[in-house]
Amino acid sequence: MLTGISGSGKSSLMHSCIAALFHNQAKTTRTKKSNLPFGKTSGEKSIKACYEVDQSPIGKTSRSCPATYVKVFDHIRALFAQLPDARIRGFDASRFSFNTDGGRCPDCKGNGRVKLEMDFLPSTWVHCESCNGERYNPATLEVTFRQKNIGQVLAMTIDEASAFFESQPRISAPLKLMADTGLGYLQLGQPSPTLSGGEAQRIKLVSELIKGRSLKSQISNLSFPIKNLYLIEEPTVGLHLEDIKRLIDVLHRLVDEGHTVVVIEHHMAVAAEADWILDIGPEAGDAGGQIIAQGPPEKVAKSKNSRTAPFLKLALRL
Ligand SMILES: Nc1ncnc2c1ncn2[C@@H]1O[C@H](COP(=O)(O)OP(=O)(O)O)[C@@H](O)[C@H]1O
Ligand SMILES: [Mg+2]
Ligand SMILES: [Zn+2]
Repeated sequence: MLTGISGSGKSSLMHSCIAALFHNQAKTTRTKKSNLPFGKTSGEKSIKACYEVDQSPIGKTSRSCPATYVKVFDHIRALFAQLPDARIRGFDASRFSFNTDGGRCPDCKGNGRVKLEMDFLPSTWVHCESCNGERYNPATLEVTFRQKNIGQVLAMTIDEASAFFESQPRISAPLKLMADTGLGYLQLGQPSPTLSGGEAQRIKLVSELIKGRSLKSQISNLSFPIKNLYLIEEPTVGLHLEDIKRLIDVLHRLVDEGHTVVVIEHHMAVAAEADWILDIGPEAGDAGGQIIAQGPPEKVAKSKNSRTAPFLKLALRL
């Protein structure tokens, strides 16, 4: 856990040092030359990959949405294709895609909305009249699972869908994970560009957790686990306390799976849960960049010089 006042050097340490170490690793082992801004390092060889889970958008086109990003929509399409109604009609999984021709509404191309270009005004999106916003053509919408068609499924929230698909663990498990990070209110089919930075970051976290699980089951007979390093900057931005608790849980799960998680965080409820804190300071800019205190939260909370200590003390109720 990296703590410290704004401008003290947390992001620089995370991105210019730690991430650079891993991104340069391939190069440096080949050239035996390192141009990194620090000296000797160790332990990095036991890490398989380094991921920076940032708040950048997860998809630039409206063709991507939470359900497609975590791949849960593949399982939903496969489920629909297996229904008797679909088999009679000869519909396969691609029929239920809104990204390819065949099953989708031809007028809005599966968006459920059409772009309205107006002279002198920015273009806006309006409800598609042909499919009534349901994104598919009438024949595709005739196929239903528990009385819901594929368009209605995409309009469900993650909370609704995880209950609706309870009997299908391949679908409900990733949805439950998303709900656990406080994303239960998002619609399955919400276009990715409309997601906030924090929402995008949490979807990325979930997708990493899911990847870890499938890898684990594939290599369960290998003696060494695949360990990743996750660098996460301020994951609690925009979250309520209740959701912060759930996010902490998700971070713990990553660690329990054997991964290393480095988090920059101002929220002391999160810092208090860390195994190890590096407090950077003492001031911002040139007066920063030093390690002021380090150790388990209880130890850092007792540090005399750390500006973080008093707040950490409160969070730990010391
Ligand atoms: N490329 C850069 N050139 C000059 N100064 C920089 C650069 N990147 C960061 N800084 C400065 O280094 C200090 C630490 O920045 P940063 O690591 O982003 O702090 P934090 O993440 O702790 O808020 C700040 O004073 C910032 O202005
Ligand atoms: Mg920063
Ligand atoms: Zn349409």
